[in-house]
Amino acid sequence: RFADVAQAPPDPILGVSEAFKRCTDPKKLNLGVGAYRDENLKPMVLDVVRKAEAKIFAANKDHEYLPIEGLDTFRKATIDLLLGAGHPAIKDDRVAVIQSLSGTGSLRVGAAFIARFLPKGTTVYISNPTWGNHRNIFADENVEWKYYRYFDADTVGLDFKGMVEDLKAAPAGSVVLLHGCAHNPTGVDPTADQWAAIADLCKERNLLPFFDVAYQGFATGDLDKDAFAPRLFVDKGLEVMVAQSYSKNLGLYGERVGAMSIVTSDKDAATRCLSQLKRLARPLYSNPPTHGARIAAEIVNDQELFTEWKAEMMGMAGRIARVRGELQAALEAKYPSKDWSFVTRQIGMFSFTGLTPAQVDNMTNKHAIYMTRDGRISLAGLNSAKVDYLAEAMIDSVRN
Ligand code: LMR
Repeated sequence: RFADVAQAPPDPILGVSEAFKRCTDPKKLNLGVGAYRDENLKPMVLDVVRKAEAKIFAANKDHEYLPIEGLDTFRKATIDLLLGAGHPAIKDDRVAVIQSLSGTGSLRVGAAFIARFLPKGTTVYISNPTWGNHRNIFADENVEWKYYRYFDADTVGLDFKGMVEDLKAAPAGSVVLLHGCAHNPTGVDPTADQWAAIADLCKERNLLPFFDVAYQGFATGDLDKDAFAPRLFVDKGLEVMVAQSYSKNLGLYGERVGAMSIVTSDKDAATRCLSQLKRLARPLYSNPPTHGARIAAEIVNDQELFTEWKAEMMGMAGRIARVRGELQAALEAKYPSKDWSFVTRQIGMFSFTGLTPAQVDNMTNKHAIYMTRDGRISLAGLNSAKVDYLAEAMIDSVRN
């Protein structure tokens, strides 16, 4: 019965963390998973999270089930964070919000919703490249997906022309998966004008935007500025689906805090969509976990804690920006004939280095630097002390 089950390959991202753990080389460096580290490369708990937890523990709360749709105070907080408190869509009650299991779980509920409620054969267009888990999330719900052009390796920038051509060619009614900000893995986002053009195109072609918002705060350091794209689309009158994660910006990775929202054009539709999101979540995982949602709600709903979070967010984004600059300077000093400017042009947690799979193998096998095989490095896992070592390994790998 089970003897014929084939071995699954390691996950392209989390498998790198497993390999890193097994490595015994003292020089080893994990730039695989996008998880923030402090300057000592240790996992960091935000002060504001500690404060929220202290409040929660002091209140002596119980461990009852949450409703299927999650914690009400969290649901309010998450949509406020996304659209800005007092946004007309919130006032009009036309957003269906279900708390779900961080980014992946939220996307998965969204994929299940597409499979069940959008016309059969609806295709989801995803950027080429994209986060390694997107394809599986849709494929495992039997939702067809196709790539749209996104990254231009020659300019190390956005292939906006290719993107627009591909979206224009998509059948009306298709879904377009967009990264809210700080595109993973490329670190390349559309400009404000390009976002506006994409929104207009979605309107003209009747495409449904589905935002994956996993890095709000990591593009500019500013939580509001980083919500520019989804806010613009909603302000232009588009209906949108949005998956949000608090893994990165609150550092609540293991707590699985997130939400799946559908911004509709009227209140009744939102009520019905929420009822169906609940119907989908119940047989998947019943109801979401409590602790992380309480933390997020405490922080976003409390003016003082929210202000403190914004400052800590700036701190995390600032540390990444600093090592970005240091890495570029080290690469330029050691290999001046090559253009390394892409390192600081890219934004968010990652740098998309252009290293080939064979060069990535050299990074790992020879230098014990762990990274994903698409050439992505997480700068959130780098500190100043390791910059030279990384730069030398990159140059060695490029030259060989
Ligand atoms: C990443 O891209 O490294 C993160 O989103 C972690 C994950 O779940 O893959």
